Amino acid sequence: MRMTINDIQNRKDIGEKIPMVTAYDYTAAKLVSKADIPLILVGDSLGQVVLGHDSTIPVTMDDMVRHTQMVVRGTGTQHIVSDMPFMSYQADMEDALRNAGRLVKEGGCQSVKLEGGLPVIETVRNIVDSGIPVMGHLGLTPQSVNQLSGYRVQGRDSISAARIIKDALLLQEAGAYSVVLELVPRELASEITGLLDIPTIGIGSGLHCSGQVQVFHDLLGLIEVFSPKHTKKYANLFVDIVQALKNYADDVGGEKFPTENESFGIDKEILEKAIKFSK
Ligand code: KIV
Repeated sequence: MRMTINDIQNRKDIGEKIPMVTAYDYTAAKLVSKADIPLILVGDSLGQVVLGHDSTIPVTMDDMVRHTQMVVRGTGTQHIVSDMPFMSYQADMEDALRNAGRLVKEGGCQSVKLEGGLPVIETVRNIVDSGIPVMGHLGLTPQSVNQLSGYRVQGRDSISAARIIKDALLLQEAGAYSVVLELVPRELASEITGLLDIPTIGIGSGLHCSGQVQVFHDLLGLIEVFSPKHTKKYANLFVDIVQALKNYADDVGGEKFPTENESFGIDKEILEKAIKFSK
C-alpha cells in the first residue's frame, strides 16, 4: 500500500518530519525507494535537469505523464506527487481537470502539485472535488520566472509576505493536503507552518517546515557547476561519474578491458569447424 495523504498528515500531527525528493526515472526511483524516502516528486524541474531546457516552462503534459510512469514503476510504497506543467491548468478549468486526471490515470501518481495562490484556488477546489489530492506551491513559483524576474527569495517585504500567508490559508481551505514553500524566509515559513493544519514542505525555507524537498540532482552533486545556497551536496556524483567514465575509456584504450572475466570463450575445435563450415 502506498503512503496516503492521511499518512502524510499524521506525520505532521505527531511532529515527525517528512523527507521528500524529486525523481524523474526508474533508476532514480529505485534508489529513492531503497533509501526509504516516503514522498517523491516528479517535478517539472525535469525540464532543466533531464531535458536540458533553461526553465520549467517548455515542459509538456506528455513529458510529465511519461516520467511519472517511469517513477511509479520504480517504487512500491512511496507516495508519488506529479507536477502539473506550465499552462496545463492556468488556461481553463476543463483543461486543468483533464490534465490532473491524466497524471493520475495514465501516469499512476497519487497526487498532483500546482503553483500559485489566489488565481488557482478554484482550480485546486475543483481538482480536489474530482477526487485528486492537490499539493500547493507558494513562494518562488518557477513557472512564473518571467513575471518574478528571476529565481529569487519571495516574501521579504510585509505586503508580499502577507500575500503568501493568505494564499497558504486559501489553499488549505480549498482542500490542498499540503503546500510547498519555496525560497521564503525561514521565519515566514515557520509562521505559516504554525498557522496551517496541513503540512508545509520547504525548499530553501528553513528548518521549521513540516518536511523538506530537494532536487535529486542537486543533493547528489550531479550538476557540474550549479549549486544554489539552499541545497546541500550529500555526494559529488558528477566528479565520481566523470572519473569512472575516464577510467573506462583509459582501460579500453590500454586494452585492459574487457578481460577474460568480462568475456566468453568457445572450444577451439568448435571454432575451427565453424570456420570450415563458413567457407
Ligand atoms: O519541480 C520541482 O522540482 C519542484 C520543487 C523545486 C519543489 O517543484
